[in-house]
Amino acid sequence: MRAATLFTGIGAPETAIPAWQWMWGAEIDPFACAVMAYQHPDVRNLGDVNAYGLSVSRFIERARRFDRPDVIVWGAPCQSYSHAGRRLGLDDRRGSLALVGLEIIGAIRPTWWVFENVPGLLSSNEGRDFGAFLGRIQELGYGFAWRVLDAQYFGVPQHRRRVFVVGHLGGQEPAVQVLSEHEGGGRNTASSKESDQNPGTAAAGLGGGAAGGRKASTLKAGYYRCWNDAEDQENLVVTRTLKAIYDNEANPVVDEYGVRRLTPLEVERLQGFPDSYTKVPWRGGAPPDGLRYKALGNSMAVPVIRWESSLWQQIAGLSKTAFEARVTIARTGACGVVTGQTLIKTAAIAEAAEADPEKFGHLKAPMERGFVDRTYRKLKHLQQQQQLIEQAASIAPSHERYRLICSDFRNVTDVKPESVDWIITDLPYQAAYIPLHGDLARCASRWLKPGGSLLLMTGKAFLPEIIDQLGQGGLTWHWESVYYTPVANSQEYVRKVHSHWKPLLWFVRGEYRGRWIAGDVLKAGPDGGGDKALHKWGQSVEGFVQIVERFTNIGDVILDPCMGSGTTGIAAVRLGRYFIGIDVDEEAYRISKARIAAAVDEQIAADPKTCRHTTSKEKPE
Ligand SMILES: C[S@@+](CC[C@H](N)C(=O)[O-])C[C@H]1O[C@@H](n2cnc3c(N)ncnc32)[C@H](O)[C@@H]1O
Repeated sequence: MRAATLFTGIGAPETAIPAWQWMWGAEIDPFACAVMAYQHPDVRNLGDVNAYGLSVSRFIERARRFDRPDVIVWGAPCQSYSHAGRRLGLDDRRGSLALVGLEIIGAIRPTWWVFENVPGLLSSNEGRDFGAFLGRIQELGYGFAWRVLDAQYFGVPQHRRRVFVVGHLGGQEPAVQVLSEHEGGGRNTASSKESDQNPGTAAAGLGGGAAGGRKASTLKAGYYRCWNDAEDQENLVVTRTLKAIYDNEANPVVDEYGVRRLTPLEVERLQGFPDSYTKVPWRGGAPPDGLRYKALGNSMAVPVIRWESSLWQQIAGLSKTAFEARVTIARTGACGVVTGQTLIKTAAIAEAAEADPEKFGHLKAPMERGFVDRTYRKLKHLQQQQQLIEQAASIAPSHERYRLICSDFRNVTDVKPESVDWIITDLPYQAAYIPLHGDLARCASRWLKPGGSLLLMTGKAFLPEIIDQLGQGGLTWHWESVYYTPVANSQEYVRKVHSHWKPLLWFVRGEYRGRWIAGDVLKAGPDGGGDKALHKWGQSVEGFVQIVERFTNIGDVILDPCMGSGTTGIAAVRLGRYFIGIDVDEEAYRISKARIAAAVDEQIAADPKTCRHTTSKEKPE
């Protein structure tokens, strides 16, 4: 679905439904703009709608440069109808932004739109304002339905009633469906006994839709932990509606120490946003709490939008399995933590498994056992790998900066003898691969220039055997450096040790005549020592950049005979070295090809000079 927003705020719909293509928004508040730019950088902010009596035609012109959105989600600034503010209705400038929004909708003509506002809109000016609003909708040719929904029935412990009007181009029935109780809603919405949240329609007219049901209760400290806990959902304690102002009275909470304000983090959770969502860089530092409260208080609640979207997705052809998986998880609380994010991830896994059972089918079992986060990460990794593999199809294996070969390195015959300055690699660490180290040493003696070096990162379980194998190929022991991995906890199962460093063994063909090496302790990057997203044994690019920089020179030829996902190659080309990469595994080879080609493009764009250093040397064969 292509989507857009008006009066965007901090991006509740974009957060609720990340799977949609959010093209543009319209926001003028500087802090809200900063949150949007940071959290949703792909969404274009078209800025001011030119309200307050000015023509909106320029805004419409800007919006028309994009594809027509299927959905526009909007909520005109609502203080004018709010019981929290003075009641002025559509005559008030802020209120009339609702009509400006309708003008834009009428010009852009999305198939769907959803409008959110305070329930005060229903009775503002004795109902005449809402009547004028609905009348305009009909004139524009949209069928519509409206309903008051309360965030507390959508998984957040906040009493927050809002009127939602859904418009559908050309017919009313689909709009009614979106706001009707549907299969997935049973758990999350109030039952009909608890609430009279029935959809209002043109036929039903004004009135109705007022939520009754549970009253707001006093908060307890730590309550927000409960709402993540499916078993506790029946006993939730619910906060009052959050206010967008920040003073000592706003958003109070009572805990064992007395009355205190909610923290911005608590408010983020109450509105269904990820933690620290509004803690974005702001004027060279962190934003003041007041700005965060205001932005969050003005925002839609994320889970309510998500609920509505689930029916849209069905209408738009969301697969049955994905929908059922979502419902199952929501109903049973199978995974213990049922947040909106969990539901979205569940749907994504189920959909992928259905679309491509061969590649993703195996992910359904762990998801159904409740390992949603981990399985979703795995899905993302597999999709990323898939994307790179597809990209690789159109990338040549040779380039003036690198040559990549898909083969067992022992069978490679076309690397010119004595053409390589450095072999930098890590072979698999298991016992079965010990003899491969002897083969590596023999190939290295052939490929390395006299004085050229082999640097091998390895595990420690079979270190004596590995050193022995490397020595058999005619290479000379030179040194051992330490590759420190403070974050990664590599478990040496064979020896029952949790390890935080790896040896970097250095062998030379003949005698090393290079420069001094400035230090023999190197440190992995912040990813903890490895990027396992693209290869189960992937290493840290940052760590390998350090290694390449510490030991080799610009223009050197570096070869990795077991390149995996291409980490050595990326570091090499980034630093202006020539790279030869080999891997026996076809998928690893393709992933490397796509990554290394991208690294070359990035590096040339960032620093064309280092490129010249490489090409000024004779290109190796
Ligand atoms: C430890 S991984 C390398 C990981 C790599 N450094 C990275 O960061 O992605 C070892 C790689 O060696 C490859 N390999 C194992 N035996 C090989 C052989 N005989 N010839 C070429 N590649 C081999 C495997 O396919 C695997 O991708």
